[in-house]
Amino acid sequence: MILGIETSCDETAAAVLTADGVILSSIVSSQADLHARYGGVVPEVASRRHLELVAPVVREALSEAGIALDEVERVAVTQGPGLVGALLVGLSFAKALAWARSLPLVPTDHLAGHVASLAVAPDPLEPPFTCLLASGGHTLLLAVRAYDDFERVGTTLDDAAGEAFDKGARLLGLGYPGGAEIDRLAREGDPEAFAFPVARVPGLDFSFSGLKTALLYTVRELGEAETAARRADLAASYQRAIVRALVERLRRAVDETGFERIAVVGGVAANSELRAALPEARFAPLALCTDNAAMIASAARFHAAIPCPEYLALDAYASLA
Ligand SMILES: Nc1ncnc2c1ncn2[C@@H]1O[C@H](COP(=O)(O)OP(=O)(O)OP(=O)(O)O)[C@@H](O)[C@H]1O
Ligand SMILES: [Mg+2]
Repeated sequence: MILGIETSCDETAAAVLTADGVILSSIVSSQADLHARYGGVVPEVASRRHLELVAPVVREALSEAGIALDEVERVAVTQGPGLVGALLVGLSFAKALAWARSLPLVPTDHLAGHVASLAVAPDPLEPPFTCLLASGGHTLLLAVRAYDDFERVGTTLDDAAGEAFDKGARLLGLGYPGGAEIDRLAREGDPEAFAFPVARVPGLDFSFSGLKTALLYTVRELGEAETAARRADLAASYQRAIVRALVERLRRAVDETGFERIAVVGGVAANSELRAALPEARFAPLALCTDNAAMIASAARFHAAIPCPEYLALDAYASLA
């Protein structure tokens, strides 16, 4: 039994997974409403909320899995990347819990966690594969040789794909986070109504800042009333540009990695147009696209545990090495 804990951004999450990757429970308490009025995550507010939520969320994960704390054999926790103050809440909680029970601890990388969302039962994806990780903070193309062995072959030069969705949503007057709302609205719109540019940067990298600027200028030109009237067309066209960029680079990444099988993980993997555009790809299960702790516990299955009490001095890290 692995207890996973995730507090890297604005979701307080805990999950119980078996060693074979069966999810017994996965509890996610989102703070999105708390941050919505600021239009983005406020780090200090997030840390304080994690502090209030982490114990009840862990308790709920254990109770939903139908196990007692005694039955937990190892604790997995996100060590980074993310907001350091937020990460430290989960990490400190996990250390204390593991230490009090003399359990081993597996410090887990959040991005390895997203990739490991493909490894859960009943149908784990066997590496090797080429993986697009598209989330609020990252847009990476990865050559995944094994769940503990992958290499980055592409990244974004500016905004992440999820960030582009969120910033676009903001320009269209939608709520935060806006990816899911753009996805919904786009279904009623014409994706060819506006020609938004897809940046062509060399190699396998992405760039989304020009697209965001193009939407900003279009919205300014249309004015408030016309923007409101054509919101669905704008959302559909904007989404089309992001999806095109992602699909094109992912397919090209296969030439670089040599791994024919393709997979998509992270919050943007929930996008319905992206799913439809890549019928040959494996997508993370919908519930495991945005942040959760089941993927953290899943990643821990492929990494060595640190015996008690050697992990007590571990620190969190904010960004990719
Ligand atoms: N249906 C959707 N279509 C497009 N984007 C979506 C959809 N659902 C969620 N998103 C986007 O996914 C992002 C959140 O994903 P996730 O929780 O994986 O990111 P994060 O944890 O904040 O970033 P990172 O994992 O890089 O640290 C947000 O930017 C959100 O707008
Ligand atoms: Mg994430």
